[in-house]
Amino acid sequence: MCGIVGIVGKSAREVILSGLTNLEYRGYDSAGIYLNDLAGKEYLAKATGKIHQLEAKLTPDQQGLVGIGHTRWATHGEPSVNNAHPQFDETKRFYLVHNGVIENYQELRSQYLSEAAMVSDTDTEVVVQLVSKFAREANLSAFAALKKTLKLLKGSYAFLLIDNTKPDHIYLAKNKSPLLLGIGDNFNIIASDALSVLDQTKTFIDLHDGEVGDITNDSYYLETLAGKPVIRKPYQLEIDPNAASKGTYDFYMMKEICEQPAVLRHLTQYYLDKSGEPRIDDEIVKTMAQADRFYIFAAGTSYHAGLVGKILLEHLTGIPTDVGYASEAGYHFPLLSRKPFFIFLSQSGETADSRVVLQEAIKRKIPSLTLTNVMESTLAREANYAISLEAGPEIAVASTKAYTAQIAVMAILAKAIGKQLKTVTAKQFNLKTNLALAAEGIEQLIANQAKIKQLAKTKLISSRNAFYLGRGIDYPVALEAALKLKEVSYIQTEGFAAAELKHGTISLIENDTPVIALINDPVTAGLMRGNIQEVVARGAQVITIASQDLAQAQDDLVLANIDYYLSPLISVVPTQLLAYYAAKEKGLNVDQPRNLAKSVTVE
Ligand code: G6P
Repeated sequence: MCGIVGIVGKSAREVILSGLTNLEYRGYDSAGIYLNDLAGKEYLAKATGKIHQLEAKLTPDQQGLVGIGHTRWATHGEPSVNNAHPQFDETKRFYLVHNGVIENYQELRSQYLSEAAMVSDTDTEVVVQLVSKFAREANLSAFAALKKTLKLLKGSYAFLLIDNTKPDHIYLAKNKSPLLLGIGDNFNIIASDALSVLDQTKTFIDLHDGEVGDITNDSYYLETLAGKPVIRKPYQLEIDPNAASKGTYDFYMMKEICEQPAVLRHLTQYYLDKSGEPRIDDEIVKTMAQADRFYIFAAGTSYHAGLVGKILLEHLTGIPTDVGYASEAGYHFPLLSRKPFFIFLSQSGETADSRVVLQEAIKRKIPSLTLTNVMESTLAREANYAISLEAGPEIAVASTKAYTAQIAVMAILAKAIGKQLKTVTAKQFNLKTNLALAAEGIEQLIANQAKIKQLAKTKLISSRNAFYLGRGIDYPVALEAALKLKEVSYIQTEGFAAAELKHGTISLIENDTPVIALINDPVTAGLMRGNIQEVVARGAQVITIASQDLAQAQDDLVLANIDYYLSPLISVVPTQLLAYYAAKEKGLNVDQPRNLAKSVTVE
């Protein structure tokens, strides 16, 4: 989603443009930068499209020692130069970048700014105009005017503000949108994502909701909105910047698909002991074992991983498990059992919809665990417990390795709880063997990708729509496979519990409609073959993906055998590759599909 980078103390243009480029993966449709050279010159440039289009608007001499930059993913107002950030006030004294959504901006505008000359459709401009108005009318400092404004706002924000009458400061504020401070040697950086500035510093301080700050090149001051100073120790972020580089791959998505075997092997080392048994924090396991029901909340691909997690948890622990879209549960809270335990699945750990549910859980004192790839994230910090997915930075918008890591970690966790409850023995559900089989099975598919590319080319890319079918554990995989194909290739795809197709949607099957069938469930494999015949009879072009034990001679792709409950780890991979090649063959930007954002920090 929107990205923010600001710096005081050195080569602002270079650091901001490179930081925004590092954030491109999050998705955006316009960008902007404000630079001040601290010698009386300032520059503002904004552009729709990509960062290089923004850069083209600056001449080489336009540099700064202080600056703020932004990539915008439109929420209020179309992507345009006027709506791009930084937004400024009518006196052109204040410049503001903003991630998030101000819900009451229209009320504020009519209450306070009926006279102001507004140039954009954004909620952000209302904020910067308010700061300016309060600074002028009440003769407040920029910091005081910002705080006065914040007290009026409802919604989410990460703000960076520059006052050009005191340009060696950046003022900042955070509520619900991520923001962190990077500490340098005679410079300070503030960004929405550490990955964007890792080449500048590895020392960071997280900001929490309701905090405001004032930074210069050699100082930083943070306080709560109520005025209480915040003292927080910096930490070192141990991420290898190379882990976030594309290497020799054409796209991050392919790199991340190919990293899945390594992630599974790493998880084996990280979460299993020598005998292959789960090594998960005892307190988490004991607390979860006391629950009478698990409630999983997530969005997008993580929600689909949650559907597999439900099957794993119920199978290994016997504890009933519900899975819900966080976006729905936040405002229509589910009726709970007597001893509920909440599980949040989130690659980024910042998804706003999930945060709403977690806030409610905290209020109701419901114990919670976040499984996330970013242990410094808000969902990790605010839940009672957090477990790392250990998948390494995921840059492509379409999530791949985080999905498989979520399933593997949930399987390990489920076995740990099951052992505690004695619903599974050490000998059953051998994780070490199965995760090794999964890693090998994925490697075979990656080695066989020419075949998958061919299938995408001949059977998918000329179609406007497609269907994935599955039964049992293949059904949630079909949902994830359909999401993957539609998000990157723009082919409208639906995932179905195979038998449901004939209860309505089969009317959409025409000559050559692609139907991709997943067959990994021994219980329903025969019925799946019947469902395939039903669509073939109506002209569908079928691709069959079956595990070795269940495969027939005509199947297009045969998957290595593995425990049924872990089969999604392998069966999702050909669907990731089909999506990748469909998008690539169509000449699309695989890593940054239109309109999408990697981390969705608005509700
Ligand atoms: C966005 C991304 C999806 C992701 C979803 C949930 O929509 O484009 O790929 O699955 O957010 O994100 P999370 O970080 O909570 O897993």
